Amino acid sequence: MATNRTFTMLKPDAAANGYIGGILKMINDAGFRIVAMKYTKLSAEAAGKFYEVHKERPFYGELVTYMSSGPIVAAILEKENAIPAFRTLIGATDPAKADAGTIRKIYAKSISANAVHGSDSDENAQIEGNFFFSELERF
Ligand code: CMP
Repeated sequence: MATNRTFTMLKPDAAANGYIGGILKMINDAGFRIVAMKYTKLSAEAAGKFYEVHKERPFYGELVTYMSSGPIVAAILEKENAIPAFRTLIGATDPAKADAGTIRKIYAKSISANAVHGSDSDENAQIEGNFFFSELERF
C-alpha cells in the first residue's frame, strides 16, 4: 500500500558545496512535509549496506567511496504520491539528462555527485527510512 512517504539523502557534494539550504527550500516549496531529518556521515560499511542492491553494478565501489566521503542529510518526506512527485522534483539520475528546474539540473555535477537520492518505490522508501530513523525520530 502506498504510504505517501519517500526517503531522501542530500549527498556529500550538496553538503560540501553549500547547497543544503537551497535544496531544502525547493523540497519545502514543492509541498513536502519533513517527517524525520538528520545530518550525519556514513561509514564505508554503512554506505555499502545502504546501496547493497547495487552490489553487482560496476559503479558500486565508486558509489560507496563517494557516499562515505563527507556528511549527508537523510530525511523522510511526506506528500501525496511522494515517490513519483519527488522523483519528478529531483530529475534524472544523470544531471546532464535532468529536466530544467529540477534539483539535479540546478545543483548536481555528475552521475555520482548527483546532489540527492530519492527512493524508487514504497518498499525501498520504508527500508531506507528504517536504515536511518527509529519510530521515536519520526514526527
Ligand atoms: P541514487 O539515486 O542515489 O541511487 C544509486 C546511485 O548510483 C545513483 O543515485 C547514482 O549516484 C549512482 N550511479 C548510478 N549510475 C551510475 C554510474 N553509471 N556511475 C556512477 N554512479 C552511478
